Amino acid sequence: MAQKKCQVAVLISGSGTNLQALIDAAAAEDAGFELCAVISNKADAYGLTRARDAGIPAAVVSHRDYADRESFDRALIECIDGHGAELVVLAGFMRILTPGFVRHYSGRLLNIHPSLLPKYQGLNTHQRALDAGDAEHGVTVHFVTEELDGGPPIVQAVVPVEPGDTAGILAKRVQQREHSIYPLAVRWFAGGRLRMDGERVLLDGELLPPSGRVIRD
Ligand code: GRF
Repeated sequence: MAQKKCQVAVLISGSGTNLQALIDAAAAEDAGFELCAVISNKADAYGLTRARDAGIPAAVVSHRDYADRESFDRALIECIDGHGAELVVLAGFMRILTPGFVRHYSGRLLNIHPSLLPKYQGLNTHQRALDAGDAEHGVTVHFVTEELDGGPPIVQAVVPVEPGDTAGILAKRVQQREHSIYPLAVRWFAGGRLRMDGERVLLDGELLPPSGRVIRD
């Protein structure tokens, strides 16, 4: 009998190119995971269309319908758990989550952030890397903890910063890597190979370095 696949909920707020990469990766026979729900806090997020086109249950939980972060996050939890999710993947979800939410999914909540964490937590990461004159930039998939963009890294992809790069050009180069490392991390998790251990991450029982597994061009 086929083994049960890891059930993954993806939270989005926008276009969902990372979601698309996960939809495509889940279609592989040996993927080991399937998307059980796509949930957006915005009704017009294009990622919802991607989900519906792929036959994945799509839901909107609008933060505008709730008086505070706590009640919004409780509604999100109800929706996610109602779909039987074992892993929760943040893919361009533009809301700050409460400590209660993060604790509820401790060790099974992933985020992707477009910088080589711990550099450039927060927004405008590509411009900040350019302004700093960095020779390299990149993207990090990490477990989420209560510190914003601060949980332990699982995998980083490093790209060069080229002369003449603009924030837009650099964003595109980084995004290409996002679309390969996010499915990679989800496959690791689904295969039971990945575990958060305090401030560090274990892959196949071995402690990863503080930057996680580092992938270069
Ligand atoms: C990506 O740049 C990701 O790194 C950040 O949000 C963006 C989402 O893009 N967390 P998309 O909606 O997946 O295209």
